Amino acid sequence: MKIPLIKPYIDQNIKNKVLEVLDSGYLTEGTVTKEYEDKFADYIGCKHAIAVTSCTTGLEIALRAMGIDAGDEVIVPDYTYPATAAVAPIVGATSVIVDVNRETMHIDYNAVQSAITKKTKAIIPVSSFGNPIDYEKLNLIKEKFGLYIIEDAAPSVGAAYENKMVGNLADITVFSFHPRKFITTGEGGMITTNNKEWAEWMNSYKHFGMNISGAIHEGICFERIGTNYKLSNILAAIGLGQLNKIDSLLKKRKNLAENYLNLLSGTKEIEFPSTTINGKHSYQSFILFHKNRDTIMKRMHNNGIEVQIGTYALHMHKAFKYNPLVKIEGKMKNSKWCYEHALTLPLYNELTFKQQKFIVEKIKSL
Ligand SMILES: Cc1ncc(COP(=O)(O)O)c(C=O)c1O
Repeated sequence: MKIPLIKPYIDQNIKNKVLEVLDSGYLTEGTVTKEYEDKFADYIGCKHAIAVTSCTTGLEIALRAMGIDAGDEVIVPDYTYPATAAVAPIVGATSVIVDVNRETMHIDYNAVQSAITKKTKAIIPVSSFGNPIDYEKLNLIKEKFGLYIIEDAAPSVGAAYENKMVGNLADITVFSFHPRKFITTGEGGMITTNNKEWAEWMNSYKHFGMNISGAIHEGICFERIGTNYKLSNILAAIGLGQLNKIDSLLKKRKNLAENYLNLLSGTKEIEFPSTTINGKHSYQSFILFHKNRDTIMKRMHNNGIEVQIGTYALHMHKAFKYNPLVKIEGKMKNSKWCYEHALTLPLYNELTFKQQKFIVEKIKSL
C-alpha cells in the first residue's frame, strides 16, 4: 500500500531505550514497566496504573477484581471489538448486548436502562475511536442502579471529558496498546483505577497471585491462584517513549483530523459521527459514514490507500449469537447501520497534508 492505515510512532529515542533494556539482560516485567505505570498514572491523574498483556486481559481481571462471576450480568454495546463482550463469559458471567447510538456509535443509554435486571453488576461502555463517552448520562444510570462502570478505553488514550482524562472517570478503565492504538507496545494494555483494594488485587493476580510484602520467602508469598499478564520491560520501553511525547502526538493527530473534516466538508453523501459535548476526542481513528462504503473501500485499495471498516456488529457473529452466556437485547438496528456505513481513513503522525488531499480527492472522485 502506498498509504497505510496506521504507522506506529517509533523514534530513535524509543529504539535506544529498547536496546538499553536488551543490554540490561532484564527482559521480563521490572523497573521499566514500573516507570511506565507510574508515568501513565501521572498523565491520567489517577492513583493506580497496572500494565498488562492486552486490553482484553485487563478487562478480564477488572471483572475478577470486582468479584463478577457466574450468574452476574454485564451490559455491553453491540458495535465494538469482540473483546468487550467476550470478557464476561470468560469469567463465567453473562454479557448482555445492547444497541448503540447511530450518531456517536456509543452504547445507547436508554437501551442500557431497559436491559438492567437484578443480576446486572456492571456496564462496559466503549469510548469508541477516541471519542469519550457521555459520563453525565452514564453516571446517572450508575447511581440509580448501583452498578460498576468498567470503561473499555482501548482506543482512547489522551481523550478527556470535562477536563478529566479518560482513565480517571470510570471505576476501572482499560486501554489497549495494540498497533492500531494511539500508543502502541506491539501488544499490551493498561488498567487505571483510584481503588486501592482492586489495584492491589489486580497487581497480585497478574503476578501469579503474589503478595510482595508477604512473609514466606524473601518477602514473597503466594496468596491466591493468579496468572501471568505482565508486560515486559522491552514493551514498556516502547510505550514509555511514546508517552513522553504524547502531547505533541495528540496535537498532530487533532490537526490531521481537522484537515480531513475541512477537506471533506460539503461532500455529498458523507456524514460524520458526532462528538461528545464537553469531550476531547483523541482521534485514534478518523471515521466517516457513506452508503456505498464497500465500493469506496475496494476502489481506495486499488489506489494504494489502506482503509478499513469501523468495527464489528457482534450480534451477527456465531460466538455471540449462539452462546448461553450472551443475551442479545433488541434488533441492533443502529449497530448494523454503523457496521455497514463506517469507513476508517489513514491516520498517523507521519501522514502529510499532501497525502490527505490525495486520499480525499480519491474519495470525492468516487
Ligand atoms: C474497543 C476495543 N476493545 C478491546 C480491544 C482489544 O484490545 P487488545 O488487542 O489490546 O486486547 C480492541 C482492539 O482493537 C478494541 O477496539
